[in-house]
Amino acid sequence: MENKQSEVVMESNQLKETTRKLISDRFSHLTKLPENYIRASGERPRLHEVVNVCTSIPVVDMKGWWSNNSSTTSRSQVVNDIGRACQEYGFFQIINHDIPDSLSKKMLEVAAEFFEMPIEDRIQWYSDDPSQTTRVSSSFNITKEGVLNWRDYLRHYCYPLEDYVHTWPSNPSNYREVASEYCREVRSLVLRLLEAISESLGLETDFLNKAIGSHGQHMCLNYYPKCPDPELTYGLPPHSDPTVLTVLLQDGVPGLQIFKNGQWIAVNAVPNSFVVNVGDQIEVISNGKYKSVVHRAVVNSNEARISIPTFYFPSEDATIEPAPALVDFEPALFRSFKYKEYYSKFWSKELEGKSCLGFFKHNDSPPI
Ligand code: OGA
Ligand code: NI
Repeated sequence: MENKQSEVVMESNQLKETTRKLISDRFSHLTKLPENYIRASGERPRLHEVVNVCTSIPVVDMKGWWSNNSSTTSRSQVVNDIGRACQEYGFFQIINHDIPDSLSKKMLEVAAEFFEMPIEDRIQWYSDDPSQTTRVSSSFNITKEGVLNWRDYLRHYCYPLEDYVHTWPSNPSNYREVASEYCREVRSLVLRLLEAISESLGLETDFLNKAIGSHGQHMCLNYYPKCPDPELTYGLPPHSDPTVLTVLLQDGVPGLQIFKNGQWIAVNAVPNSFVVNVGDQIEVISNGKYKSVVHRAVVNSNEARISIPTFYFPSEDATIEPAPALVDFEPALFRSFKYKEYYSKFWSKELEGKSCLGFFKHNDSPPI
């Protein structure tokens, strides 16, 4: 009996301990930002200096992908547009991507429901261990960070779907159904983008598909609560993604910014679009022709924001290296590595610009 009671006390202490790590349950009512979220003065977002223009990144219309005629929106035009966007920006928005808008809307709704559930329904998923295939956490990599980030998240593996779907939250009751359909659709979009990017690099259509082994896909539900002082902290600090590609779905609340030509630029969402960005693995395989671009998420004091990135990866056993055809006449900028090595390096530290990629370049390559 006594044992039982002390177990209960211990469990509730554990609950308190973990609960304390989620912003959405602890801090959302605060009027002052807690100390451990405050960035040093030289590292703050300086929001008044951010460029805010409608057309900050290219919009690629994928309608022509399915047509073979020679009109201006043919498949080859889409390939050209995507190639140019990858080379000049590393970031683009896509429209007419063939993912039903109703599905994206449902995905955002079920994500909002997840973060609105009582803490008891979410905390069972809490883990700071990046190797857990389904977990709720806060900030980015809480055990490795000096200053924390104003973000809670649910992150889970999604491919192969049948290996993971049963490990996902079963609350909200339609979560698995909606998220499975969403994952399947995003994966087919990514496969199309991989074809387009391979062709735009002058490689075989299936080059990237084959270069990344048996593939990996994770998704993240990012929840950025209202923040008492958005000038002092980040939702996510400047970083590039360790992915092949990232496909981002976001609600209507602004927050994503990219670093281009020495300036931070806000990416204002085009309705019914996805934001796609080149990840570090494309930078390696393209031998630096397409670069991953540093981006960040800032927060605001008026409303919470939800964003849902799909991270598309090589499988852990894939060997990643510059495509042989692209290093015929130029030196390889990066060494070859197993993706497992890259991914564990990424999670061994805090988010910090393109620092992870730096570990994989040849010593005599120019700085990234
Ligand atoms: C990410 C990311 C941006 C956003 O999760 O890697 O960059 O707007 N997210 O949430
Ligand atoms: Ni990112």
